Amino acid sequence: MGINKHVFGKLADGTSADLFTLTNSKGVQIKITNFGGNVVSILVPDKDGNLEDVVFGFDSLKGYEENPSYFGSIIGRYANRIAMGKFNLGGKIYTLPVNNGPNHLHGTYHKVVWNAKEIQGKDGVGIELSYLSKDGEEGYPGNLSVMVIYTLTNRNDLRIDYSAATDKETVLNLTNHSYFNLAGEGSGDILGHEMEINADKFTPVNETLIPSGELRNVKGTPFDFTTSHSIGERIEQKDEQLVFGRGYDHNFVLNKQGAEPSLAARVTEPNGGRVLEVYTTEPGIQFYCGNFLNGIIGKGGKAYNRRTGFCLETQHFPDSPNQPAFPSTVLKPGEQYKTATIYKFSMK
Ligand code: GLA
Repeated sequence: MGINKHVFGKLADGTSADLFTLTNSKGVQIKITNFGGNVVSILVPDKDGNLEDVVFGFDSLKGYEENPSYFGSIIGRYANRIAMGKFNLGGKIYTLPVNNGPNHLHGTYHKVVWNAKEIQGKDGVGIELSYLSKDGEEGYPGNLSVMVIYTLTNRNDLRIDYSAATDKETVLNLTNHSYFNLAGEGSGDILGHEMEINADKFTPVNETLIPSGELRNVKGTPFDFTTSHSIGERIEQKDEQLVFGRGYDHNFVLNKQGAEPSLAARVTEPNGGRVLEVYTTEPGIQFYCGNFLNGIIGKGGKAYNRRTGFCLETQHFPDSPNQPAFPSTVLKPGEQYKTATIYKFSMK
């Protein structure tokens, strides 16, 4: 049990980045680099005690310098899309880089070096990552000091605590973009995983994946995961939303209970019996099932093909800065941004 640190590699500009290995009392092991705060591997047991790595990633820092699909990444300043890369805040229009069709997607926090501090707690081990995102970076207002704490507990939870403060009014939305395959990364498609999402509604999108503003009932649609369904069961149905996303790539409106992290999703891999539960304080979760993956070469030379991993990105809703009816993503000076998400591993 403990934390191990070694040099992961050197960036093109000579800056060095580290790889931290967190091990808990049960032998669960998580690797995280302070380059982009990327989660590199998560080794968890199946029902027979076999440890397998259940997240996508790369063997070397070089892979993370490219990382076009955000494997394991901390996402900021704004997770998911902002329509046309523009928003109005306090009467001023801000312009962001457009990098996904006509829209802005996900930002660049996964490509910067974060300061890292090791944490040895009573209940587990962790690392505290901090980063100062400068006023004007990517076009966003305000010097934003961001902190992300990853904790691996002895209950096999990966807990992520996000906090931030700004010196000018701004918008932000932080998440983690890990791709899971509970049978083991690179082991095939995830269509047989059983999914539950604690959401009676989702936010339908247009063909560029910007929400229309409607909160649509999932009842009677392929988006109803209030009871367990395999990911693949309804994914090819003739449904306009599935066509727009080329499968699931949608924000679900979580049925919230109080301010503490509450259950957002539960995924079970029926063969090995690994279970992942996601708890969060956030109002939404993006369920993305890797529809755009096209064979990126990852750990051990494995190719990550279409629908071989899924993401459960806890978040505020996409395009909230342009959608006054959605929960606000505005942070003002003097306020503290604070959210928490727990990825809980078990087996059945
Ligand atoms: C998010 C988006 C997807 C896709 C992935 C990254 O989940 O919603 O559309 O862009 O990130 O490839």
